[in-house]
Amino acid sequence: MSAERKRVYAWEFPVRLTHWVNVVCILTLSVTGYYIGNPFIHAISSREYIMGWMRFVHFVAAYAFVCSVIIRFYWAFVGNRYARWGALIPHTSRQWKDLFGAIKFYLFLSRKPPYAVGHTAFAGLVYIIIFILYIWQIISGFALYSLSDHTWASGILGGWLTGVMHLQTIRLYHHLVMYVILAFAIAHIYIGWYLDSKERNGIMGSIFGGYKFVTGKEWE
Ligand code: HEM
Ligand code: HEM
Repeated sequence: MSAERKRVYAWEFPVRLTHWVNVVCILTLSVTGYYIGNPFIHAISSREYIMGWMRFVHFVAAYAFVCSVIIRFYWAFVGNRYARWGALIPHTSRQWKDLFGAIKFYLFLSRKPPYAVGHTAFAGLVYIIIFILYIWQIISGFALYSLSDHTWASGILGGWLTGVMHLQTIRLYHHLVMYVILAFAIAHIYIGWYLDSKERNGIMGSIFGGYKFVTGKEWE
């Protein structure tokens, strides 16, 4: 590995901000959402209002999550090359090659880690799927919310779904997708740490400070 390292500003502030706002929101939404589906703390008196608070916190986090996702999507149009849709959606032959190289690495069929300055093509594809799941959680969440919240915002953001899908199906998939996102998060943190130790490019720190340390093996 080359000893020469170049410092590259990969993740701009909006990318880092929305990443961490999403993390805090997802953790909050998962704990409160799990409680809504399976109330594991029992109130002794009605003054405790536990379910009420859980739902309230779920909805506050939901609005913060919506704002954060909108900012990240906007940034995919105006941000740097590493933040744009083109870096997330594999569309060049180089990206497809990189994608299969990464899959081979993760399947222990190759020893070559998927070096990249921004997201690897494989990570980009996975993040697009995660973004689609974010959208699903928002639409299905607001569909459920529209039952008690008769505002235009709930109607537009998801209320219309109740005319397309059975309510319990929406609720089931709203719940199940939580587990998919949490399973992704566990794998994501492990892979980030593993790649950091293999590639030595500061990837873990980069989502805090924005900078990565390019080794010369990356593709642009
Ligand atoms: C609920 C937990 C998490 C979720 C759902 C999540 C999701 C994501 C998503 C969607 C991206 C793409 C960012 C973008 O382009 O906007 C990303 C990037 C990243 N995340 Fe997370 N993240 C989580 C937690 C963490 C944690 C705890 C760490 C490490 C401390 C971390 C490290 C990173 C790094 C280093 C990147 C950028 C590098 C890359 O392209 O892989 N994430 N994450
Ligand atoms: C990552 C994001 C989210 C996660 C992980 C999540 C998780 C959950 C879970 C597990 C439940 C319980 C479902 C059940 O009854 O079994 C739930 C309920 C609910 N969620 Fe979410 N949620 C998310 C986002 C949202 C959003 C954006 C909204 C929008 C307002 C929302 C609104 C609701 C509503 C209205 C309920 C039903 C409340 C009730 O029946 O009293 N959620 N959520």
